Amino acid sequence: MSTLQITPISGALGAEVTGIDLAAPINEALQAELDAAFYAHLVLSFPGQQLNARQLLELTQSQGGVGETPYLTGLPDYPDVVPIIKEATEKSAITFGAGWHTDFTFQSMPPSRTLLYAVDVPVVGGDTLYSNLYTAYDALSTGMQEVLENMTAVHSATRSYGPQARMKDQLESMTIVNAEEEPGTITHPVIRTHPVTGRKALWINPVYTLHFSNMTLAESAPLLKYLNDLAVSPSFTCRVRWHPGTLTMWDNRCTQHCATADYHGQRREMLRTTVAGDVPR
Ligand code: SIN
Repeated sequence: MSTLQITPISGALGAEVTGIDLAAPINEALQAELDAAFYAHLVLSFPGQQLNARQLLELTQSQGGVGETPYLTGLPDYPDVVPIIKEATEKSAITFGAGWHTDFTFQSMPPSRTLLYAVDVPVVGGDTLYSNLYTAYDALSTGMQEVLENMTAVHSATRSYGPQARMKDQLESMTIVNAEEEPGTITHPVIRTHPVTGRKALWINPVYTLHFSNMTLAESAPLLKYLNDLAVSPSFTCRVRWHPGTLTMWDNRCTQHCATADYHGQRREMLRTTVAGDVPR
């Protein structure tokens, strides 16, 4: 019998899960239950966990193997565990991840899942927003779905981590190493079929998607803007409120997320890992 209690946090996506200790080994039956909840809700938030970096890494390993993390500097003993820290004393109000995006879509095999663990959070603020890219696809007209099915888009890390990117200068408590030369581009389908659920998702994002294949930036911009706005319509979103010990795991193949930058003057410390992914189809 299941010990998991699963409580949806919005009508669009996201659920809070209790009745599990993520520091303990997850047996096959429990993993099957977790997977069922994960594929149904896309974002699972587990309050009250106690994880150190090693345990977070082991958990990540158990969810499909650890993904490759470029540009961001991880912990000295655990380079795949990236601290996301904003100190109360920082000059800029900017926070890491404060723009809607899907993680690392500039990679040929972007992560399948991301895990984020709250170590220290502001009294109020610093929530993370998520959007459901299946519902964004479903909201398109059949005519637009057919057009987009035949399109691919070009993704790159240039805006965040290219030689000209300035994000690293504003995030004082993180060590970001920009590419010395212009990062390469990668082409992904605009409509991605999820390898497990078989559902279709609108798979572009405003941070890493530069333009449609064989079109210029200017030609792509109006349709990209329309799709990027649609993807994060309020009705397709949920909001995770963090407490120390909350672990949230999201499906990077069918969601976008956005960290809020509303806690300037307060401290927030998170640990982040990614699970290896596959080639988007
Ligand atoms: C991220 O975009 O990976 C971080 C999100 C957050 O810190 O809330």
